Amino acid sequence: MCGIVGIVGRQRQVAPLLVDALKRLEYRGYDSAGVATIHDGHLERRRAEGKLANLDRRLGEEPLAGLIGIGHTRWATHGAPTESNAHPHFCEGVAVVHNGIIENFAPLRSELLANGAEFHSQTDTEVVAQLLSSYRRQGMTPRDAMQKALSLLEGAYALAVLFEDHPDMILGARSGPPLAVGHGSDEMFLGSDAIALAPFTDEITYLNDGDWVVITHDDLEIYDVSGERVERPSQISRGTAYVVDKGNHRHFMEKEIYEQPEVVSHTLSHYIDFAEGRVKLDAAQIDFANLDRLAMSACGTAFYAGLVGKYWFERYARLPVEIDVASEFRYREMPLPGKMAALFITQSGETADTLASLRYCKDNALTIGAIVNVRESTIARESDAVFPTLAGPEIGVASTKAFTCQLSVLAALAMIAGRARGTLTLEDETGMVQALVEAPRLFNDVLKSVQPQIETLSRELSRFKDVLYLGRGTSFPLALEGALKLKEISYIHAEGYAAGELKHGPIALIDENMPVIVIAPHDRHFEKTVSNMQEVAARGGQIILITDEKGAAATTLETMSTIVLPVVDDIVAPLLYALPVQLIAYHTAVFMGTDVDQPRNLAKSVTVE
Ligand code: F6R
Repeated sequence: MCGIVGIVGRQRQVAPLLVDALKRLEYRGYDSAGVATIHDGHLERRRAEGKLANLDRRLGEEPLAGLIGIGHTRWATHGAPTESNAHPHFCEGVAVVHNGIIENFAPLRSELLANGAEFHSQTDTEVVAQLLSSYRRQGMTPRDAMQKALSLLEGAYALAVLFEDHPDMILGARSGPPLAVGHGSDEMFLGSDAIALAPFTDEITYLNDGDWVVITHDDLEIYDVSGERVERPSQISRGTAYVVDKGNHRHFMEKEIYEQPEVVSHTLSHYIDFAEGRVKLDAAQIDFANLDRLAMSACGTAFYAGLVGKYWFERYARLPVEIDVASEFRYREMPLPGKMAALFITQSGETADTLASLRYCKDNALTIGAIVNVRESTIARESDAVFPTLAGPEIGVASTKAFTCQLSVLAALAMIAGRARGTLTLEDETGMVQALVEAPRLFNDVLKSVQPQIETLSRELSRFKDVLYLGRGTSFPLALEGALKLKEISYIHAEGYAAGELKHGPIALIDENMPVIVIAPHDRHFEKTVSNMQEVAARGGQIILITDEKGAAATTLETMSTIVLPVVDDIVAPLLYALPVQLIAYHTAVFMGTDVDQPRNLAKSVTVE
C-alpha cells in the first residue's frame, strides 16, 4: 500500500531522485510523503501531509542535501494522515520507512515504553526505529541490530533503514510486501517495485520473502530469514519499458479506458491464434482435461472478473468453479478434494489476501495458475502457471483496462478448457474466436459513439445520492463492478444486484430518487430482466438501460436514458459492456470534481490485510 524507495550513490544529490521515484509509487498511497538523507554525518528529513506535491513544494523551500536517502509515500493504517505520522520515522540516528503492518507493534511499544522510550507518532512503524536504536545503544552493529529486530516483528513489511553513523549503506527487508533492489552505475536503489526505479535502472534483484539486504553504492549483500548470506538472481525488468504519463488525457483513468482496444487486442493475441481461428491449447499450462473442479479467488474488480469467468468455465467447459473473495477464501479452510487446480486473478500481483489464498492452495498441493498484470510480482513468481494480461502499467487507482484484459484471458482459458475437455465444438470455438477478433474494433466504435450521451447522463447522475445496478448472468458481475466503480471514484453510494434478487429486498428502496442502471444485452436472460425493469418502473424508479440494438428495439419501457451497443456474442458482451459502465463512473466523478485517479482512502496495491 505505501511505497518505499532508497538510493545510495556517490555523485548525485538524491532528494530530487527520491521524489521522482515516489511519483511513480504515489498510486500506492497518497496520505503523506517524506524523505530523509544523510549529509555531513547528519540525518535530516522533510515530510508533508497529503500528496507528494506538498513534499515537493516543501523541498523547494527547504532543500535537502545528501548522496544517500530514503523516501516514502503513505497509505495510512495506524495513526491519522498527519505530518507527525509521516515517514521516515527517526530515533537516535536511525531512520525507517515502511510498507505494511507490524501486527505486534502494541506489545513491542509497551515494552519499549517501559524501558524509557519516547514515541513521537501513533504509527506501528516507529517501533522498528526504536528497536533498532535500542540495539545500537547496546553496541550492536547495524546488521546485527537489523537481524535482531526482524526476528521480533510479526506482520507484513518492506523496510528501508538509514543509520546516521553509516552514511554509505541502506538496509532493506521484506516479509510480505515486495522489495526490489536496482543496480545502477555507481549507485544502488531499493524500491517497492521496478517501475519506481525505471528512470534509474532496469536491472533488478527481487528479494524473497524473509530476506534482508545491505546495499552500498556498488554492492549488495542479501541474507535470508536465518541470517545466512544468499544470492538472488538479477533480471532485466520489463516494467521499465513503459512510459507512464497521461498523454493528452485529463486523467490516467480516461487514458486507460481509451487504451482498451489496444491492450485487449494484445492480450487476446497471446492466447488465440487469429490466423487459425482457434485458441492456443499450449497457452493453457493447466491440465484442464483432468480437473474435477477449479478454485478461483481475487479481490475487488479482479474478483468480479473471476465471477464472469465462473459463468464461462461452467458453461463452455462444464468445469465447476468454487470462487470467493480472497479475504474470505484464505480463512475458510475450504476442503480441496479430488482433482482441483486454483486460479488467482490480480492486476498488481501483490494483493495480500490473494497471495495468502494462493499459499493456502499451494500448501494443499494444488497446481496454481495466476492471471496477473505485473509479471515480476510475488504472485506471478509463486505460481506454477502465469497467464499474463498485457495491459501495461495501470496507474489510475480504479481498475479499468486490467479488468477487460482479465476478462480476455478468462474467456480464452474457458475456451481452452472447453476444447481440452471436449465440451466446446469446433464450430462454437471458431464462432467465439471470430467474435473476439472483432471485439477491439467494436471497442473503438463504442468508446466514440457513447461518450457524448454518457457525459450528459453523468451530469444528471451526479445529483443523486444512491444508484442501483442490475444484471443477470455475466451481466450480474458487471452490475457489481459498475457499482464499485461509481462509489470508489464519485463517492455516490451504489449497489449491484442480480436482477432476480430485486424482489427479495432491494425493491423496497426504489423511488424517484434511486436511478437503476440495468445491464441487459439481448441474450437468453433479456426477457426476464425486462420483467425486473417493469417492477422498477411500476414503483417510479428511473431506468438507465444499457443494451444492444435488438434489446432497444424489443422494449417499449420509458427510460431516463438507453445506451445502445452493437449486438455481440455472449463471450464478448461482458468486455464490451464494461466500457459504458466505466465511462459512467468516470464522467460522474469528473462532474463531481473528485480526485479521479487517486480517490480518497484508496490505494492501488493492497499489500496489507
Ligand atoms: C477497484 C480496484 C480494486 C482492485 C483490488 C484487487 O477499481 O482496482 O478493487 O481490483 O484491490 O487488486 P489486484 O488486482 O491488484 O489484486
